[in-house]
Amino acid sequence: MSESVLIAPSILSADFARLGEEVRAIDAAGADYIHIDVMDGHFVPNLTIGPGVVKALRSHSQKVFDVHLMISPVDPYIDAFADAGADIITVHAEAGPHTHRTIQSIKALGKRAGLSLNPGTPASAIDEVIDEIDLILVMTVNPGFGGQKFISSQIKKIAEIRQRIDDSSRQIALQVDGGIDQTTAKLVVDAGANVLVAGTASFKGGPDSYADNIDRLRVSP
Ligand code: DX5
Ligand code: ZN
Repeated sequence: MSESVLIAPSILSADFARLGEEVRAIDAAGADYIHIDVMDGHFVPNLTIGPGVVKALRSHSQKVFDVHLMISPVDPYIDAFADAGADIITVHAEAGPHTHRTIQSIKALGKRAGLSLNPGTPASAIDEVIDEIDLILVMTVNPGFGGQKFISSQIKKIAEIRQRIDDSSRQIALQVDGGIDQTTAKLVVDAGANVLVAGTASFKGGPDSYADNIDRLRVSP
């Protein structure tokens, strides 16, 4: 696979007191997607932002808003994130019993649907919905916080999912999230990933560093 890898900086590592400015800066630095981590203090042990903040940020960038919902239940909130301006809505396979229904509701709103797998969830969790989804997100940390250590056992799972995507005739993005830096970026891209989420590695050093930070993550397989 030789197409270019997309970089999705996670604004979880941005300065929350200046979020609009941070989104403009990371957009100008070359971000492909703006990755927005939504946490509920229930599905994951942290609380972040809701649809009101996504809506407020929408006018600050025309880039794809890639909304990663780490919340349970998720169904009651899909409409609100779609209305707020999400382009991709990713939900967790572990967040509830009705993943298929949730994906249908995201698609019915005209949005791209993503399915995320925690480190303890096997690749086979995508098998019954692979015909419906636009993106698969492999978590390489346990979700909840930025700045955690990359879990290398997930590389095998990324390769397994790459095989499943290639075996399907569908265009499905393979995204990886958690502990991505210049070194781990190479490992996951070699395994078949083509969209890299990076919080710490994108926002370190402040706005003057963002363009270099993003360039360093654009590794080739
Ligand atoms: C973790 C979030 C990630 C996080 C990544 O639960 O889903 O998007 O911001 O942060 P880094 O890149 O610092 O591991
Ligand atoms: Zn995320």
